[in-house]
Amino acid sequence: MKVLIATDKPFAKVAVSGICTEVEAAGFELALLEKYTEKQQLLDAVVDVDAIIIRSDIIDAEVIAAAKQLKIVVRAGAGYDNVDLEAATAAGVCVMNTPGQNANAVAELVFGLLVFAVRNFFNGTSGTELKGKKLGIHAYGNVGRNVARIAKGFGMELYAYDAYCRAEDIESDGVKATCSVKNLYETCDIVSLHIPATAETKQSINAELLGLMPKGGVLVNTARKEVINEAEILAFMQERPDFKYVTDIVPGNDVDMKAQVGDRYFTTPKKMGAQTSEANINAGIAAAKQIVDFLKNGVDTCRVNKK
Ligand SMILES: NC(=O)c1ccc[n+]([C@@H]2O[C@H](COP(=O)([O-])OP(=O)(O)OC[C@H]3O[C@@H](n4cnc5c(N)ncnc54)[C@H](O)[C@@H]3O)[C@@H](O)[C@H]2O)c1
Repeated sequence: MKVLIATDKPFAKVAVSGICTEVEAAGFELALLEKYTEKQQLLDAVVDVDAIIIRSDIIDAEVIAAAKQLKIVVRAGAGYDNVDLEAATAAGVCVMNTPGQNANAVAELVFGLLVFAVRNFFNGTSGTELKGKKLGIHAYGNVGRNVARIAKGFGMELYAYDAYCRAEDIESDGVKATCSVKNLYETCDIVSLHIPATAETKQSINAELLGLMPKGGVLVNTARKEVINEAEILAFMQERPDFKYVTDIVPGNDVDMKAQVGDRYFTTPKKMGAQTSEANINAGIAAAKQIVDFLKNGVDTCRVNKK
């Protein structure tokens, strides 16, 4: 079996050597295509491979068609909208992501952004502390659970809402499960977003919801920009001079946000949540392990496309 690492933006060397160890221990062969500049290089590299590990690389129908022996593609990371899932399913190719491997990295960034926000963006004025504040975790998945773990160290009071997670599973972590999204926002001083971008969640964080938050409210977004109603958050922040918004995803209206509410708004210049060497290494090695387990034992727990 041949496994290809196809990365336009390469993994750290230590991640590649970790992947190599996993692949070779299974008796498979490893091939490496890094920093490729033409799609043709990718098309040539996939011709005889059984498995591909990618990062943000595009695996479309043409790549899948060129990879005649392909059985599995693993996106080392959370999002997988760079893979044509329908084309993969039609060709009998399994697509996986590596859920949870970057969750701690993202959760730590939440607190970096929050401390920055509540200390008034280090502008020299007196801010507030996180201790004793009510933190609302909007979606209790991999990142949300890590946020809860870290927030306990800050002495925060924890609340969470997740449409698909049982309240008892949330409460067993010492986090109060709210009965509705609205209840989360009206209860919490700070809300941290961890929902995926779905038909249900897109643009769902709007003025009505934010208007429920108490005075001095802070919204932190390390999830996706699509979940925010950008026009409404800008208008809302103009009406509510006490409200702060910090995000890891540059909004479409960043220029207007900076111009009009820039003293209470901050965005990282580029998505930084998963940008740690640990997350990079964890995701790469998890991808290799999942490929070995799939090819040897048929395990497809992290599969994201239809069979
Ligand atoms: N900033 C970054 O670099 C970065 C890195 C990784 C992930 N992310 C983003 O962070 C978010 C969370 O990632 P994760 O790894 O925790 O995902 P996850 O799949 O582990 O968790 C998502 C949670 O959202 C819940 N959910 C789905 N729809 C919901 C809804 N309508 N209302 C409430 N809850 C809902 C699910 O039940 C699940 O528990 C995603 O949007 C992801 O794209 C960002």
